[in-house]
Amino acid sequence: MISEFDKPFKRSRFVYIKEYSKLIGKESLGDIIPLWVADMDFKTPQVILDALQDLGAHGIFGYYVPNPSVLESIAKWILERQNWEISTKWIRLTPTVMYTVVSAIRALTKEGDPVLVFQPVYSHFADVIHENHRKMVVSELRLQNGRYEMDFEDLEKKIREENVKTILFCSPHNPGGRVWTKDELLKLAAIVEKFGIRVISDEIHADFVYSGHRHIPFCTLSEYTKENSIICFAPTKSFNLAAIQGAGCIIPNPALRTAVKNCGYQNGVYGPSIAGAVAMEAAYRSGGPWFNALLKYLDQNIQLVEKELSGTPLHVMHPEGTYLLWIDCRELPIPSGKSLQSFFIEKAHVWLSEGSEFGKGGEGFVRMNIATSRSTLQEALLRIKSAVHSSK
Ligand SMILES: Cc1ncc(COP(=O)(O)O)c(C=O)c1O
Repeated sequence: MISEFDKPFKRSRFVYIKEYSKLIGKESLGDIIPLWVADMDFKTPQVILDALQDLGAHGIFGYYVPNPSVLESIAKWILERQNWEISTKWIRLTPTVMYTVVSAIRALTKEGDPVLVFQPVYSHFADVIHENHRKMVVSELRLQNGRYEMDFEDLEKKIREENVKTILFCSPHNPGGRVWTKDELLKLAAIVEKFGIRVISDEIHADFVYSGHRHIPFCTLSEYTKENSIICFAPTKSFNLAAIQGAGCIIPNPALRTAVKNCGYQNGVYGPSIAGAVAMEAAYRSGGPWFNALLKYLDQNIQLVEKELSGTPLHVMHPEGTYLLWIDCRELPIPSGKSLQSFFIEKAHVWLSEGSEFGKGGEGFVRMNIATSRSTLQEALLRIKSAVHSSK
């Protein structure tokens, strides 16, 4: 059966493709299939388009204060999807998750202070820590039976050595696709409590969890984590709304909440755009059925990639969540000095993310975004296999 996700879209009407072209140093993208940046090639659901069209028809875009129904829609979604009952008072709306992360880092630390991350991880974590003149401390994830695990011994060592009081955590994990288990999270929760650490938990991928796994919000692990964590969320990955900008954080502790709010005010930023808030409410109130269908489609895309790449030197880390596949290419013979990204662009005309951008442990891997139509993915896989074959 043909699904709405099967329809390939040309996105060149907007500046996006131009940006791609600039990056690859060519006049145009040509036939390159871009599977790198973490957004989707799918149209946002009709319920959101209708809400945005209503907003457009209203035609007044003056200052906007999110009304209580936006906050209620978030609480409803979090309860239904994550089984976590929150008070709407705990929510602060923001333009983007990375804006929220920066506000949280500034609220919790001062210049020179350490912030610990588990690498490899979303590359902008390193950027915002460095650009805000904090010291990045890395605990490298351990590859264990083909998936990443936190190395708790190393974590404790780094915490002691660097006197870490803040952790920036990615849950579920980009790029490894881990949905951390309750056991793992409880271990982390015990360590953060033991050392009096506060956690900024980026849970932007929380909705993308495949069968057999469950996302557990970091705040829900203990009374300590409830009082000492900042949960960052957004509907922008789930409903493909990144450029509209609407995100937020959930902070049960009132003093922390005020500190994060004040950092926003310091920067003259007060919240999401009106379109971001309108889209968010429509998504959380009525987007559930669309999202469930999307998740099934993505799951089939993952199965397709795993089937097509099995028996090749490319080893896919089976994802428990997210639409990003982390692929081990260390057995692929490529000329020395050449990046994996340029190998795949030149030989396969497929654009993937270079693993080393994700920090320690990322070398030799690529990240592939599979949130695209099946036909686009099939074409990309054909090309990748043929490039791999000819590299032998
Ligand atoms: C873990 C993680 N956090 C944050 C972001 C970016 O979110 P935003 O555009 O809301 O800043 C991404 C995007 O890929 C991500 O993967």
